[in-house]
Amino acid sequence: MPSVVLTGIGLLATQSAEYGDLPGAAVVIQDSEIAWVGPAAAAPAVDDRVDLGGRCVLPGFVDSHSHLVFAGDRSEEFTARMSGRSYTAGGIATTVAATRAAGDEALTGRVAELTAEMRASGITTYEIKSGYGLTVNDESRCLQIAARFTSETTYLGAHVVPPEYSHAPEDYLDLICGEMLAACAPHARWIDVFCEQGVFDADAARAVLLAGTRYGLGGRVHANQLRPGPGVQLACEMGAASADHCTHLSAADIDALASADTVATLLPGAEFSTRSDYPDARQLLDAGVTVALATDCNPGTSYTTSMPFCIALAVREMGMTPTEAVHAATVGGAAALRRTDIGVIEPGRRADLLALNAPSPVHLAYRPGVGLVGGVWQNGLQVA
Ligand code: NIG
Ligand code: FE
Repeated sequence: MPSVVLTGIGLLATQSAEYGDLPGAAVVIQDSEIAWVGPAAAAPAVDDRVDLGGRCVLPGFVDSHSHLVFAGDRSEEFTARMSGRSYTAGGIATTVAATRAAGDEALTGRVAELTAEMRASGITTYEIKSGYGLTVNDESRCLQIAARFTSETTYLGAHVVPPEYSHAPEDYLDLICGEMLAACAPHARWIDVFCEQGVFDADAARAVLLAGTRYGLGGRVHANQLRPGPGVQLACEMGAASADHCTHLSAADIDALASADTVATLLPGAEFSTRSDYPDARQLLDAGVTVALATDCNPGTSYTTSMPFCIALAVREMGMTPTEAVHAATVGGAAALRRTDIGVIEPGRRADLLALNAPSPVHLAYRPGVGLVGGVWQNGLQVA
């Protein structure tokens, strides 16, 4: 692949501790990696040159939490919530029924549309969960579809107990940890569980994560979303890569996150779309917890593919500075996926970058709802 220099960068917000924010910068891309970073005037001569005309450049966003394999629409449920009804996990069953009835082609087409939207919003790495199939065959086919789009696939058979098992939830737990896991593990990197009152309790969630370990799957937990509970501490105890939502935290939960290698992944799109209180990112950051921001794109609680929207919410509603929010959407997301090749612009990292039609990343929150992403490179190739 020919080498290319991106030059005329007004501000390069590398997110790297070594390089920091560089004004008047250039980046050289060679063979899908970043080969050089520095002042534009000192850039080496290479094959091709792209002048970004003073735009700001930052790493591609890393979306460490999404549920893109589904069919159907829950806009009526959203409308009812906006008129005062509260969110319950029961809505998941509506999407499960639609997803089971959909063919592979329809499901694949929807993932293609949503991942194209993600790229246009600057996301260059996305995790995709199953969780709307909840039979051996449907979970396995959803993961096979997800694996066509990303290597960050997550088995979420433990999303909710499906209606046909409502009178025998322990049998469903056996299925998740047994036959369903065996069918899904070859297509997954991670295993996730919705640990919440009335869904999966701490013992069930622990069993799910342990079963995943036997197949080499790393753990993730939907934790403390709707009320306080044991999910965050379980995630930390089990060495999960991420505890996601973290909306209702105790001091002990924050202490556990601060001393564990578990990232707190915050999903403000979910609080927005369920009209709920937002998590307190300030408390987590002040305690030294690694925080990630992700879209949680799903048809029930957060039907957005826009990381800039999540950044704006994090700044306006969760006590993060614009700099912290951008860091959480890049470096934080990479940490939540335990990736060291993405999230930062420096030599040797994957050439995943985005250019903003703005002088600095602050504008992502300062100009909410405005499509500022003016160019996206994934693996060194311009994709949007
Ligand atoms: O992350 N909490 C569980 N899962 C999704 C919601 C899924 C749905 O309502 O369809 C979430 O918010
Ligand atoms: Fe989720």
